[in-house]
Amino acid sequence: MCGIVGYVGKNQAKEIVLNGLTKLEYRGYDSAGLSLFDSKVNRFEVFKETGRVTELKKALEMTLESSVAIGHTRWATHGKVTRENAHPHVSRSGRFILVHNGVIENSDVLYQQYIPDYDLKSETDTEIIAHLIETFSKQFTVDNAIVTTLKLLEGSYALLVIDKETPDIIYAAKHKSPLLIGLSESGGTAIASDVLALAGYSDHYVPLTDHSFVVCEKDKARFFNFELENIKPDIYEVSSDILNSDKGLFDHYMLKEIEEQPSVIRQIIQTYEVNGVIEVDDVIVSDMKKSDRIYIIAAGTSMHAGMLGKRYLERLAGIPAEVHIASEFAYHLPLLSSKPYFILITQSGETADLRASLKAIEHLKRPVLTITNVKTSTLAREATYFLDVKAGPEIAVASTKAYVAQASVLLILAYALSNKSYPVKEVLSKLANNMEVFLANQSMDSIAKDFLDKRHAFFIGRGINYDLALEAALKLKEISYIQTEGFAAGELKHGTIALIEEGTPVFALISDAHMNHQTRSNLKEVDARGAKTCVITLRSLSKETDDVILEDVDPLVAPLLLVLPTQLLSYYAALQRGFDIDKPRNLAKSVTVE
Ligand code: M6R
Repeated sequence: MCGIVGYVGKNQAKEIVLNGLTKLEYRGYDSAGLSLFDSKVNRFEVFKETGRVTELKKALEMTLESSVAIGHTRWATHGKVTRENAHPHVSRSGRFILVHNGVIENSDVLYQQYIPDYDLKSETDTEIIAHLIETFSKQFTVDNAIVTTLKLLEGSYALLVIDKETPDIIYAAKHKSPLLIGLSESGGTAIASDVLALAGYSDHYVPLTDHSFVVCEKDKARFFNFELENIKPDIYEVSSDILNSDKGLFDHYMLKEIEEQPSVIRQIIQTYEVNGVIEVDDVIVSDMKKSDRIYIIAAGTSMHAGMLGKRYLERLAGIPAEVHIASEFAYHLPLLSSKPYFILITQSGETADLRASLKAIEHLKRPVLTITNVKTSTLAREATYFLDVKAGPEIAVASTKAYVAQASVLLILAYALSNKSYPVKEVLSKLANNMEVFLANQSMDSIAKDFLDKRHAFFIGRGINYDLALEAALKLKEISYIQTEGFAAGELKHGTIALIEEGTPVFALISDAHMNHQTRSNLKEVDARGAKTCVITLRSLSKETDDVILEDVDPLVAPLLLVLPTQLLSYYAALQRGFDIDKPRNLAKSVTVE
């Protein structure tokens, strides 16, 4: 969580860091801060505000000439949302200033051991890092003082440090939390926790590996490990889709990302089509074929995509698959088969619960495949293999196009493992077309108004649509704060139906011919108890009275079409309530704490 940005160079550091923080605000948005070297008065200043980056911008309205700055947008973990707890944090004498993304698990122990007499200014786990660096700087060079501190830290961190005595250097370090160094022929060195903040300022970037320490100057960056030995960085180009990652004509990223879904599917087809044939890397396929069971591990929406993936792998490829919540799997390993294969699904590629799961299976030395939207992410690098879902940057906290992309890639993977009789390309192409048909004519705004007038709601479905019901419910509660449950339609009567009262909204998701009748019967049961029911279904299964009818697609991908009206329902419910759609309360886009 949190976003960090730094810049040293000949351009205006204040603007670059503030623009970067605005782009990263989706990662954390309860407070923001910045420190910059004001060349007029020849000193570093620190500014912090609670609330959004716009508050910080107001505090920084006066013109300040600066060529060095570091900034932070926070998602509180240790300590409340206060100005004192906002970053940057400063060492006791004021010499070292730093911003941190991650969690220092042993901060209390280090405090007791090294500086028990210090009066801390904040409740954070970060402030101690500044004090430790200063303590060690009395014995060592700055580089050594920083790496000595880093070696003591347990937990995760992406750090930017300024030493007032060398104002044209930013020191950067990374362990477990993402950090990238942006390089530019013309314009200085930028540093950020997400490549989005580098777009426009850097031509190339280096995603740091764990235990990296970097000395950033205006015309170069030097890369070291914690023994201060030089390391050779992997350099990537900043791609054009990152440059194009603004909202365009849309009011919200979420709406833009919903609308992009047909083109995401087409992009996936293009990526995985080689000489007219849909293919997945042979090495991945042959390793999977040698395994006896697939374990899919993920969180939130990615886990819901994994549930569809399980169905695809079992139905198309006949390989048994299990889906696990990452935070549970990491510390309660199930009884594993003798030749397990692990799939991690993650939009960001940085989710801490997945990293903990990866650690828990490391000793097994079995193949791990990460399916992600960020090919330079930590989990893409740490797994044996990775597949790119090609959704393009997803900025809204509520995940939409990544879900559809992850499930589509899982379908392609299952196809690659199968006897290949399933017409995967045609199925996905038709899905993209029928998504467009729906998006061009939808009226989910008025359905949201008609149906969502209570504090709670239900989505019900059977089979593959039960998986979808869970995703639809997560999306609605996440951004509209309506308490929503996704339920297996046939299970309601075993207890939960007690919650149905006059006017309770119940949305039924129907796309399987052989369960149409049963789901409609379950809907009648809640209807009889006063529920306000809404049917979302496919043309061939529809009745005249149904509320949302979409054109037919193959049953395996029907949830990827039916998800569209549920995403829009959530979007409009949040819009009608005046909520911040792209940045819902208490959440962050990339969950890098366990
Ligand atoms: O980056 P990941 O896919 O690993 O993130 C997993 C979840 O945190 C994420 O899907 C979350 O549930 C979304 N906010 C849901 O919209």
